[in-house]
Amino acid sequence: MFAITLLASLAVGANAYIWPSPQLDALESIRYDQDGHRSQGISVFLEPCDLFIFSASPSGRADSADWIRTAYHDMATHNVADGSGGLDASIRFLEEQSRPENAGDGFGNTITVFLAHANRYVSIADVIALGAIMAVENCGGPEIAFRGGRVDAGEPNLPGVPEPQQDLQSHIDSFARQGFTPTEMIGLVACGHTFGGVQHDTFPDIVPDLHDPGNLKSVAHFDTTFSHFDNNVATEYISGTTQNPLVVGANDTTNSDKRIFSSDGNATMLSFANSPELFASTCADLLARMVDTVPRGVQLTEVIKPLLVKPAAVQLILDGSNLQFSGEVRFWNKTADPNRSVSLQWDDNVGGTHNVSTQASGVSSAVAGRFTAAWYAFNSTLDAVAGITSMRFLVDGKVEDQNGVGFAVQDGILYSKTSCLQSQNPLTGRLDVAVRNGLNPTHVFLEQEVRDSVNRPVVVSIEVPRPAQALAANDAYSLWSITVADNNVGVGSSPATAFTITAEVGGVNITANGGQFLATLPACTT
Ligand code: HEM
Ligand SMILES: *[C@@H]1O[C@H](CO)[C@@H](O)[C@H](O)[C@H]1NC(C)=O
Ligand SMILES: *[C@@H]1O[C@H](CO)[C@@H](O)[C@H](O)[C@H]1NC(C)=O
Ligand SMILES: *[C@@H]1O[C@H](CO)[C@@H](O)[C@H](O)[C@H]1NC(C)=O
Ligand SMILES: *[C@@H]1O[C@H](CO)[C@@H](O)[C@H](O)[C@H]1NC(C)=O
Ligand SMILES: *[C@@H]1O[C@H](CO)[C@@H](O)[C@H](O)[C@H]1NC(C)=O
Ligand SMILES: *[C@@H]1O[C@H](CO)[C@@H](O)[C@H](O)[C@H]1NC(C)=O
Ligand SMILES: *[C@@H]1O[C@H](CO)[C@@H](O)[C@H](O)[C@H]1NC(C)=O
Repeated sequence: MFAITLLASLAVGANAYIWPSPQLDALESIRYDQDGHRSQGISVFLEPCDLFIFSASPSGRADSADWIRTAYHDMATHNVADGSGGLDASIRFLEEQSRPENAGDGFGNTITVFLAHANRYVSIADVIALGAIMAVENCGGPEIAFRGGRVDAGEPNLPGVPEPQQDLQSHIDSFARQGFTPTEMIGLVACGHTFGGVQHDTFPDIVPDLHDPGNLKSVAHFDTTFSHFDNNVATEYISGTTQNPLVVGANDTTNSDKRIFSSDGNATMLSFANSPELFASTCADLLARMVDTVPRGVQLTEVIKPLLVKPAAVQLILDGSNLQFSGEVRFWNKTADPNRSVSLQWDDNVGGTHNVSTQASGVSSAVAGRFTAAWYAFNSTLDAVAGITSMRFLVDGKVEDQNGVGFAVQDGILYSKTSCLQSQNPLTGRLDVAVRNGLNPTHVFLEQEVRDSVNRPVVVSIEVPRPAQALAANDAYSLWSITVADNNVGVGSSPATAFTITAEVGGVNITANGGQFLATLPACTT
């Protein structure tokens, strides 16, 4: 009886990892909060899948195709023997982009879009990997496992991307260096070349100016569905109807797809033509391996799966003798339902349990509508002395608490509403950090996320001085204050418009809930 209950509770509602985890939470959001409420703003570049934001429509090009090619060209420098190269965003360096093997403006275009989405937890290389995955998934393809944790290169990699005029043996050798067998080479090329095509501007010797008002950039597409994942690249090749410019190009020297596709007597391409399912599952495996091909020593995270119940934007702010406690919770695989009741329960530091209701705040979707999620918001005032330790949700009476673990909320360090602003951008003024009595941090920092000289997100910090005499905010908190002036913001390339509060406690850093502080503050009077 007990065993059965336990099994049932494990099977239902188990989150993929224990929330909170700043890096996994950020990776999960960028992967799954695609459209609608709290959209991360990447998927819109694929809506519709033949959208190309850099020139007039119908261009014949597509963001989706550029994103997949960018991931491949970034990875293709990998050398399995010495572990160098791989998917590390080295393609963002103009020196790499100017090599003949990286002809075209698709890499620069793609990086421009992706840079804005990287942060301290999601590298530029992670965004490149995810961009390729989303292009495939959101445009008719299979789900592809996504891991995070890639590390952005500080300099260009050695050359090594295959080019169409090279012979078959060079391509076999090149893919072997990247870590792929001759059969996997056929697969990976077909999986990539179900998107996009060859442009006249970039390869005028392969593709003539098409003078086609429906294809303004004169792109000779690899198959008839150039912005959709399907096995047409194989069926059209096998049936002999293909217009793939790397198969039927007038100059046989640059017909690399023809040499590659026929290199095993057409066996692999025939199997793809005969089975869309086999093509999809093969591509899911090969593309996951492609984006996980990283320089030796880089440790990737577990595969990012959606959390079934995920708090977001949880904020705790000291307001006199109270704490303002607000945030949202996302329920994966649920649609809006006005009859659903969602309440929030929390435990405090003095043995109390509290309960408030939540309000439906939006719905979101992912993978071109394949998944949906329903969001609820809460905003409550709690007693500062009692504080909060952890929370859980009741959904139509069912407890969602990460299988008994609860959702931890730290109340040790927070912003105090006594802070004041001189200017919002850059953020200057007096920031009061509330430190809970008994926490005894060794250091308190304001952290700022900036970019280094090669655009990598990095964190710089300003130490908040320990007050000479504890300044009590109330019975539970003391204030540590710092006046932030122009000369201690903008340590990197951009001025600070927000800070994250962090405290080092027993050698471990804890971060204020809410992370970035953007609440409206009164103007400083002095
Ligand atoms: C021997 C290997 C390969 C060769 C010689 C090759 C060659 C080319 C060439 C010449 C283009 C035209 C680029 C342009 O006009 O802008 C192209 C486009 C493309 N390639 Fe490859 N490719 C190879 C492998 C791959 C692989 C493994 C992938 C991904 C898995 C891939 C994905 C793409 C995509 C998506 C495009 C379309 C880009 C667009 O339309 O903007 N290619 N490839
Ligand atoms: C075919 O392409 C190769 C490689 O780009 C080039 O060297 C050769 O001159 C071309 N042949 C013709 C007939 O255009
Ligand atoms: C592979 O298929 C193509 C297209 O049907 C055909 O032209 C070619 O002769 C085949 N090659 C081999 C080696 O069977
Ligand atoms: C999504 O929810 C439905 C019931 O609403 C359930 O049948 C289905 O198994 C769920 N899917 C996943 C992937 O959890
Ligand atoms: C909500 O409940 C009412 C009354 O029981 C019912 O008529 C309605 O269909 C329900 N709505 C949904 C979306 O389930
Ligand atoms: C919590 O509050 C909700 C309504 O806000 C109520 O339906 C639920 O029964 C309460 N739960 C507990 C354990 O008090
Ligand atoms: C929560 O409610 C307080 C008081 O009404 C309000 O000042 C604050 O802006 C609200 N917070 C959020 C995140 O909605
Ligand atoms: C804690 O954060 C500070 C400021 O960002 C940083 O300098 C320090 O190395 C961090 N300490 C640990 C143990 O991570």
